[in-house]
Amino acid sequence: MFFKASGLNTYYGLIHALQNISLTVDQGEIVCLLGRNGMGKSTTLKSIMGLVPPQSGAIDFQGRSIFQAPPYKVARVGVGLVPQERRIFPNLTVEENLLMGVKAGCPAPRDLEPWTLKRVYKHFGSLERRSRNKGSQLSGGEQQMLSMGRALMGNPLLLLVDEPGEGLAPLLVREVRDVLLQINRAGVSILLVEHNLKVAMSLAHRCYLLGKGFVAFEGTMSQLRARPDVMAKYLEVS
Ligand SMILES: Nc1ncnc2c1ncn2[C@@H]1O[C@H](COP(=O)(O)OP(=O)(O)OP(=O)(O)O)[C@@H](O)[C@H]1O
Ligand SMILES: [Mg+2]
Repeated sequence: MFFKASGLNTYYGLIHALQNISLTVDQGEIVCLLGRNGMGKSTTLKSIMGLVPPQSGAIDFQGRSIFQAPPYKVARVGVGLVPQERRIFPNLTVEENLLMGVKAGCPAPRDLEPWTLKRVYKHFGSLERRSRNKGSQLSGGEQQMLSMGRALMGNPLLLLVDEPGEGLAPLLVREVRDVLLQINRAGVSILLVEHNLKVAMSLAHRCYLLGKGFVAFEGTMSQLRARPDVMAKYLEVS
């Protein structure tokens, strides 16, 4: 299995935020993590990345354990994170922000094209126009693109993306969605936290639906579509 997390238990003090969470991502897949606010979606990504280490469970990536590994080691084996808060450096330029991603990542494997500034700019035209601007001068959408571009500069094989469309206008949500598809077609597997069910339906191969800290449903998007009862219970259906 390309990526497998089993039986993750993560705590914030006394709060048992993840209770036996298990999930897999196959090579080439886009897998969505769905669920209402506060269910543990971001905590799942942070646990995988080693930012909030799980107390028990197992995490294997390409046959090796990354369980309780520090974030820089997880990044070095090819797992990248685009955090919900974006976390760009406000005082660095767009280009400097992107170059920070190189240090935080790993070299591209021999059979994949490495990510360079030029390649990131090809996907994110607006970043090229803003390359000398400071991070703080960017719009919310541009910051999101920068956060994604920076993660890509680390040549991830598995990209964890946390609510990339949050706070963005519908046109930008579509742009982010298209870029995710292009990235996936270029060989990057994606675990995506997404609250917009329509976006999830149009992107993902499979999904996991979280209740309060546990996996309430897993299956393909069409299996989820066939379960209006599950959607009504665990999602905000618009
Ligand atoms: N740093 C923290 N300290 C204490 N509790 C936390 C912390 N971060 C998250 N939690 C709690 O853990 C639970 C899961 O939070 P998490 O951020 O993973 O949810 P989420 O599904 O990503 O929600 P959202 O859709 O709002 O981003 C929530 O009850 C939250 O209050
Ligand atoms: Mg979150």
